[in-house]
Amino acid sequence: MRIVLASCSALPEGDGDDAPLITALRRDGAEVVWQPWGGDVDADLVVLRATWDYTERLGEFLEWCDRVPALANPAPVVRWNTDKSYLVQLAERGVPVVPTAVVEPGEEPSFPDGEFVVKPAVGAGSHGAARFTAHEAARAHLAALGVKALVQPYQSSVDASGETALVFFAGEYSHSFHKGPMLAAGVAESASGLYLEEKLSGIEPSAAQVALAHQVLDATAELLSLSRADFLYARVDVVEGPGGEPLLLELELTEPTLGFAHTGEEAASRLSAAIRAAATRPA
Ligand SMILES: Nc1ncnc2c1ncn2[C@@H]1O[C@H](COP(=O)(O)OP(=O)(O)O)[C@@H](O)[C@H]1O
Ligand SMILES: [Mg+2]
Repeated sequence: MRIVLASCSALPEGDGDDAPLITALRRDGAEVVWQPWGGDVDADLVVLRATWDYTERLGEFLEWCDRVPALANPAPVVRWNTDKSYLVQLAERGVPVVPTAVVEPGEEPSFPDGEFVVKPAVGAGSHGAARFTAHEAARAHLAALGVKALVQPYQSSVDASGETALVFFAGEYSHSFHKGPMLAAGVAESASGLYLEEKLSGIEPSAAQVALAHQVLDATAELLSLSRADFLYARVDVVEGPGGEPLLLELELTEPTLGFAHTGEEAASRLSAAIRAAATRPA
């Protein structure tokens, strides 16, 4: 069985987070190789793991996803998930989501009271995301982005408690980790390179966070006419809302960091099992 982990040319072997997964897959008898996305692929399953530069070439990336014989997550899931305006669809289905407004290029935005975030709808690694209170500066940032963007009230809980990432494999809960705040106040953008460095550590989620994550996966499966088990991996990023309630910030079905460095070997073994099952399933 041949598994290709898809990366990008700038980081052809990822950032190291997947090392425990590779160990588990090889132990379990699979052949595993890294390959930057874009070319022809020969594999029983191609797993998107480190394709971080897709945000600059989304059309090309999605075409490649359509061409790949067996892709995880599947191309229609990736197409839906790479535009963060899916948050609005989930909110319409009753999922508690960080309040999100979509602003098309050239459109006159209406900003929330107090501090808010402007970020590109297609984005990763915190690129192009920034905090504002001044509308003038936010308008200038939207104009500089020049693409569809999201506007959200800044969730100030993130300064103290960051966000919790709940990871699922084949629709089943696996583990969680914590991520510190990413956006400094008053800095338009500090990202250079592919992504801002993230501060991660293992964490036990609350029952309310787990319940929200299940709701997110169920609603998404329904929206996409799929079953939860069709998501080889899913990461549900939640933050605390103004009343202490968990809110969805991001659902990562494309190329999430899975935090293997901060969990035991079991998490990598669980994904290895899910990958091997998906690789032997007829398309
Ligand atoms: N509404 C928000 N409130 C507080 N922090 C936010 C908000 N939106 C984004 N952030 C911060 O910016 C980071 C990146 O935003 P996110 O929506 O997760 O996009 P991505 O991780 O795909 O770049 C988050 O990890 C978080 O620290
Ligand atoms: Mg994020």
